[in-house]
Amino acid sequence: MASFDGCTDPRLKQVMQSLTRHLHAFIRDVRLTEKEWEAGIGFLTAAGHITDDKRQEFVLLSDVFGASMQTIAVNNEAQGNATEATVFGPFFVEDAPRIPIGGDIAGGATGQPCWIEGTVTDLAGHPVPNARIEVWEADEDGFYDVQYTDARVAGRAYLYSDAEGKYAFWGLTPTPYPIPHDGPVGQLLASVGRSPVRASHLHFMVTAPSLRTLVTHIFVEGDPQLAIGDSVFGVKDSLIKRFEPQAPGTPTPDGRDLDSVGWARTRFDIVLAPADA
Ligand code: BEZ
Ligand code: FE
Repeated sequence: MASFDGCTDPRLKQVMQSLTRHLHAFIRDVRLTEKEWEAGIGFLTAAGHITDDKRQEFVLLSDVFGASMQTIAVNNEAQGNATEATVFGPFFVEDAPRIPIGGDIAGGATGQPCWIEGTVTDLAGHPVPNARIEVWEADEDGFYDVQYTDARVAGRAYLYSDAEGKYAFWGLTPTPYPIPHDGPVGQLLASVGRSPVRASHLHFMVTAPSLRTLVTHIFVEGDPQLAIGDSVFGVKDSLIKRFEPQAPGTPTPDGRDLDSVGWARTRFDIVLAPADA
């Protein structure tokens, strides 16, 4: 502990001393053996080897420890009825296509079409026009576009809320899928008997001037994976939404004919907190 006493950055000193205290307490608590220490170093080395600009095994490790959600919790203090945040995940990309309100994010991704609509408001209930809404999701086989090798752009887009803060788009009814589990984190989950599967979800990132950026998802009410558990602890009750399957013959909001495939609809009203001062 004293080796950090001379650190002139008070925050760095606090973080390093606390980390040291907890790390030593952990080693004493489990009486860590030298073989286990070596296995730990081997694990971290393997995580480093598989990590590149597309694959981030350390973030995955943080996710399956619940450390990502804990960090989100301490940094997104509840404010009024602001929509809760959850994990970002590794599958957001910057250059998604823009769609108009009512557009379709599928871009060829397979799955049951789903109409998603809602509003963006602030804590006082005032509409937030022109909020930028990024959405992304896996296809029905459980893969994001970036997990395919053919450079497709599918299951992602961004749009802006209208003058009344309203938005709507076509997406896909989400289905459960596993986090990447072909590396050291997957081996870790297998050795402790944990599933890599995430509860079905659709990602959102919502930004608007002077308001706190919201990174979140919506989950599917009734998804059996909700009871089994989400491998990265991302579920919040407030984010579980009813995805209503529509009876054949029900007209779609924009006249699109989906009788042969069926469709669903859901509503997600987004409330943004003020940006931190
Ligand atoms: C995801 O939802 O995309 C995700 C989140 C955490 C780890 C892996 C994937
Ligand atoms: Fe995801």
